[in-house]
Amino acid sequence: MKIAPSILSCDFSRLADEIAAAESGGADWIHVDVMDGHFVPNITIGPVITAGARRATTLPLDVHLMIESPDRYLEAFADAGADLLTVHVEACRHLHRTIERIRELGVRPGVAVNPATPLEAVREVLPSLDLLVIMSVNPGFGGQSYIPATFDKLRRARALLDAMGSHAELEVDGGVDVKNAAKVLATGATVLVAGSAVYGHPEGAAAGVRALRHAGTS
Ligand code: DX5
Ligand code: ZN
Repeated sequence: MKIAPSILSCDFSRLADEIAAAESGGADWIHVDVMDGHFVPNITIGPVITAGARRATTLPLDVHLMIESPDRYLEAFADAGADLLTVHVEACRHLHRTIERIRELGVRPGVAVNPATPLEAVREVLPSLDLLVIMSVNPGFGGQSYIPATFDKLRRARALLDAMGSHAELEVDGGVDVKNAAKVLATGATVLVAGSAVYGHPEGAAAGVRALRHAGTS
């Protein structure tokens, strides 16, 4: 099990400290939520802040692009230090080409699937992926509630990946907390993204990561 705290919910006046806190709690990746105000109704992080996050940690940066026409910015986020770059299937006209481009840039490619999008939409590209992200909220904001239908979708995603012998990580993004972590992992998910559960923890982000790991392993 990997935990990828989303810095979307951190205190950006203390970005480096907030990333260090998650790292000291045992975070595996740092999740960077990029939003453009078009694909989703919110504007957040761009390449400049991503590069700042890069300087704050040696952990892999898991960059989630919630943007229209992501091809325009792949190089910028690769240069900013992304280790994994995830695009949305709903935002890509030529998804296969986009995935190839990410790999050419020396970055591990991921694809995210919105709650209303069937898994069938990504079936053909699964063999090319290092990461499949199943959205368990409608993207745009942190702190939303986990959509229960995601459990079944995750189980079906696990079966598809296993059937093709894929070693891609299966990440779940949105509304993951100590109450649902064990059930989410039981579906075969391998990476938990958590924003508010980590950065909203009353004892800080390190405690938030530890609590999530404890919940996921007990
Ligand atoms: C949703 C983002 C998520 C989200 C995670 O648009 O992609 O990464 O912010 O935050 P929580 O864990 O608070 O749902
Ligand atoms: Zn995300």
